[in-house]
This record gives sequence, C-alpha cells and structure tokens, in this order.
Amino acid sequence: MKAAEFTDIDIMRQCIQRLGDGGVFLVSGTQANPMTIGWGVIGRVWGRPVFQVLVRPSRHSFSLVEALGEFTVCIPDANHKQALALCGSRSGRELNKIEACGLSVSRSAHVGVPFITECVAHYECRVIHVNDVVNAALDPQIVADSYPAGDFHRVYFGEILGVYRH
Ligand SMILES: Cc1cc2nc3c(=O)[nH]c(=O)nc-3n(C[C@H](O)[C@H](O)[C@H](O)COP(=O)(O)O)c2cc1C
Repeated sequence: MKAAEFTDIDIMRQCIQRLGDGGVFLVSGTQANPMTIGWGVIGRVWGRPVFQVLVRPSRHSFSLVEALGEFTVCIPDANHKQALALCGSRSGRELNKIEACGLSVSRSAHVGVPFITECVAHYECRVIHVNDVVNAALDPQIVADSYPAGDFHRVYFGEILGVYRH
C-alpha cells in the first residue's frame, strides 16, 4: 500500500468511472459494513480535500456514519461486480457483507473504519459537515425520478485524511 496525493488523477479517474459503472464501496462502522454507492463528489471545500457521499436515512450505513463520523471509500476492480451487486442490495443489518463477498479488511491509517484490502485504492474520510437534500430546493424532475418515496439523502462532507493505492 502506498500513500498518494489527494490530487492523484489516476485514482480520482478510476473512482469517478466506477461511480458510474457498478459503483464503489462506502465502508462504515468499525466492523466494516460495505455499501455500494453510485453518487459522490471529490473536491476542495473550506481549503480542505473533501469526498462528499450521499446516504439515505433508511440505510444501515446511515446509522454507522452518524455514530462514528468516519468512512472509507474503496475503489473496486473489474472482478468486484458481484460484490458490488450484493453490497448494493443487501443490508448490513441482516448480513456480514464482507464475509458474504469473500473480502477482507485492513486497518486504516487515519480513521477507525477499515478499508477493503482487495480494492485498488481507498480514501479515508472524517465527517466535517452534513447537509440534507431539501425537497423544495431540488429540481422537481429529480425529486420525481429519485425520491418517489421520500427518504431524501443526507450529504456527508468527508475531509480526506489519506489516499492510498494498494
Ligand atoms: C449501483 C448502486 C449505487 C447505489 N448508490 C447509493 C448511494 O449513492 N446512496 C445510497 O444511499 N444508496 C445507494 N445504493 C443502495 C445501497 O447500496 C443499498 O440500499 C444497500 O443495500 C444499503 O446497505 P446497508 O443497509 O448495509 O447500508 C446504491 C445501490 C447500487 C446497486
């Protein structure tokens, strides 16, 4: 594992590509519950490197991020399609998804949430701000498309404390 710059364009490109093609793993909790996410933003806010993720309150991951205020974002490779499908359809409330996927985790350098060892790279993040998606402020077409049942996402601004290539 090798520390990388926040601006490492190769890791960022892989992350953004995967977000749009099967997803990446958002890992939360000290026991590492992986959830597939397809939405995320990497950038700079308040002079800090930030990874924004959007999590619906109904997710088990929501309670875990709320409780610990930390998460890792782990970038899968092409062999992880099945794991992404499972982690995006089953809840950590009912299943140990790391075991079910045959994955393993390792201790992070900056946060209490582990990262998935088999991934190609990961970001370690500490929540510095949360912001709820507001119905009245959102494009009505997006509300209709993405929120037919409500359950509006909470946006977590995770300060990126470390980026690692595996
Ligand atoms: C490709 C894909 C992308 C997803 N993106 C998100 C997302 O960005 N935010 C979210 O709250 N749920 C997203 N989901 C749904 C969660 O991954 C799914 O509900 C998961 O089972 C929640 O797990 P948990 O209950 O262990 O947190 C996505 C699912 C898939 C398949």
